[in-house]
Amino acid sequence: MTGIPTITTPRLSMPKLGLGTYGLSGREGQRAVESALALGYRHLDTAEMYANEEIVGAAIRASGLPRQELFVTTKVWWTNLAPDAIRAAHAASLARLGLDYVDLYHIHWPAPGMDLAAALATLAALMAEGRTRAIGVCNFPPGLLRAALATGAPLAALQVEYHCLLDQSALLSLCRANGLVLTAYSPLGKGHLAEEPTLARIGARHGATASQVALAWLLRQEGVAAIPKAQRPESQRANLAALGVPLDAADLAAIAALPKDRRFVNPAFAPDWAA
Ligand SMILES: NC(=O)c1ccc[n+]([C@@H]2O[C@H](COP(=O)([O-])OP(=O)(O)OC[C@H]3O[C@@H](n4cnc5c(N)ncnc54)[C@H](OP(=O)(O)O)[C@@H]3O)[C@@H](O)[C@H]2O)c1
Repeated sequence: MTGIPTITTPRLSMPKLGLGTYGLSGREGQRAVESALALGYRHLDTAEMYANEEIVGAAIRASGLPRQELFVTTKVWWTNLAPDAIRAAHAASLARLGLDYVDLYHIHWPAPGMDLAAALATLAALMAEGRTRAIGVCNFPPGLLRAALATGAPLAALQVEYHCLLDQSALLSLCRANGLVLTAYSPLGKGHLAEEPTLARIGARHGATASQVALAWLLRQEGVAAIPKAQRPESQRANLAALGVPLDAADLAAIAALPKDRRFVNPAFAPDWAA
């Protein structure tokens, strides 16, 4: 047993802490995923765009773990959101992973002019066919998430950037009201939070690092999962240990007072975040 708590909703059962894999590649990347699985991680986050589904699948096979103990997420890129393109992308992801199904299949980014209802209906059909256990979206601002929910699609999760320096209260309320898990990506601000002085000061009081405080702050929130990427085994271990870092009222007040407008992921094709 790994000691990582699970978030259970009517639509999925997801380990609260997972391993992000963006940037992991080749033999070294495969070894990093194998290390995480050996340490007790059971939730892996990949995407067709990361071009690393093969090494994630190879690490899973090397681990010898039963498939049902793992929670594997992958994502369809925003240029592939026509129904046939989603089906082709999904089949290619499964082939690269060497799996019969994934646990969660996400739209990676919304696309301008996409047929949202048709895309979500295709994801729902893949779910009904047993090719994914659950479906979700990433990088949807509140208005677009409301539109997605209004289609009636059985969405189980939203994945967005979320950490101590970015307010996501509107999306979190929407997720909680509709039974969706909010998965926090870039939970360490792409590594920048390791240097954040307030988090470092809080950590010093608890024998923890700033990064661990950043993760502890997310992991204590109901319905929130976090997927830090860590290549180094010592960081993978430290991130697991963040589950045991206690934060008191003074710590939470200090984190609440930090600026909340820092986005580390904002590509040219990103949606209007206020929409
Ligand atoms: N849906 C989306 O559009 C989207 C966008 C971005 C990310 N994601 C997902 O979210 C995952 C995580 O986000 P991210 O990769 O952007 O950034 P992140 O997890 O916030 O930060 C990763 C960086 O933090 C370092 N790190 C990890 N643990 C640490 C620790 N305990 N102490 C100090 N440094 C530590 C890593 O170093 P080392 O690797 O060298 O150990 C790496 O440089 C991605 O890998 C991906 O799976 C999804």
